[in-house]
Amino acid sequence: MTKRISLTRYLVEQQRADGLIPAQLRLLLEIVARACKSISHAVNQGALGGVLGSAASENVQGEIQKKLDIIANEVLIEANEWGGHLAAMASEEMAGIYPVPNRYPQGEYLLLFDPLDGSSNIDVNVSIGTIFSVLRKPDGARDVAGSDFLQPGSQQVAAGYCIYGPQTTLVLTVGAGVALFTLDREQGSFLLTQENPRIPEDTQEFAINMSNQRHWDAPVKRYIDECLQGREGPRGKDFNMRWIASMVADVHRILTRGGIFMYPWDRREPEKPGKLRLMYEANPMGWIVEQAGGAATNGRQRILDIQPTQLHERVSVILGSKNEVQRVTDYHRGL
Ligand code: AHG
Ligand code: MN
Ligand code: MN
Ligand code: MN
Repeated sequence: MTKRISLTRYLVEQQRADGLIPAQLRLLLEIVARACKSISHAVNQGALGGVLGSAASENVQGEIQKKLDIIANEVLIEANEWGGHLAAMASEEMAGIYPVPNRYPQGEYLLLFDPLDGSSNIDVNVSIGTIFSVLRKPDGARDVAGSDFLQPGSQQVAAGYCIYGPQTTLVLTVGAGVALFTLDREQGSFLLTQENPRIPEDTQEFAINMSNQRHWDAPVKRYIDECLQGREGPRGKDFNMRWIASMVADVHRILTRGGIFMYPWDRREPEKPGKLRLMYEANPMGWIVEQAGGAATNGRQRILDIQPTQLHERVSVILGSKNEVQRVTDYHRGL
């Protein structure tokens, strides 16, 4: 079997090849990977580590926080604040931004993360993960403000996720395709196990929370209804359904074998464009999916083109196999 290369060697060789990973960004990615390794260890401890169950607090999203939401958030903050590679961080679990403390040097990057994605699956031992997105701090020496984070997803310089499942796998893009690294627990290092997965342009598998069907807008109802009619209906083929309720796991399946993932706007909370968060769920996942030949829209426009107005803004998400995403997007345009 060919000798597998480490994350560090991959990042060094990628920098040599196309200059996409300057030293500070390489340090950032290695530190985030190390933090994910620590989170993976805590996740694997489960009840033995006292990490299950809810904390007595609510986050800015209005969600009751799980203990692991808070643990994972703290791991990422503590791992990244001293390295000199970051100017500030933002997290699903923190209302405002976290500027690097004055006692540490400031770097040129902004790190955003969903420290623990799929929190409703923590206590039932189903795959969960961490999602992260990296932006450049806008030029100028002044202190970082929340508005500095409000950049469209097309401005990301790196994005990735780590899925804590039967394997712990880190998935990363810096804009030159996607790389997957599997954690070798004995060595304690992430080893390159796959490069440039391609999402098939067509699929017969959709992922959506069907319990919300009566609340969906007409284009989504039309699309799913056609899928459910199977080969007797207008699509002329049968579809399968999956819904894990951890975005990282649903996206990882689509990265691995194709499919379409949808968390669309629905009329339960009509003032919100959707449930998922643009800056640290839809943007990183949207870029990874595009880098693997898929597509990601909010039903009307490319996710990565959306100009954010708030740090925790939500968005309707339709991503995965390109031709299916295009079909749903066309339905939203009345085609
Ligand atoms: P988080 O646990 O970070 O709050 O994200 C949960 C999200 C996403 O991971 C998943 O796709 C979706 O919530 C599931 O929502 P439902 O429970 O409404 O199906
Ligand atoms: Mn999430
Ligand atoms: Mn989360
Ligand atoms: Mn949450």
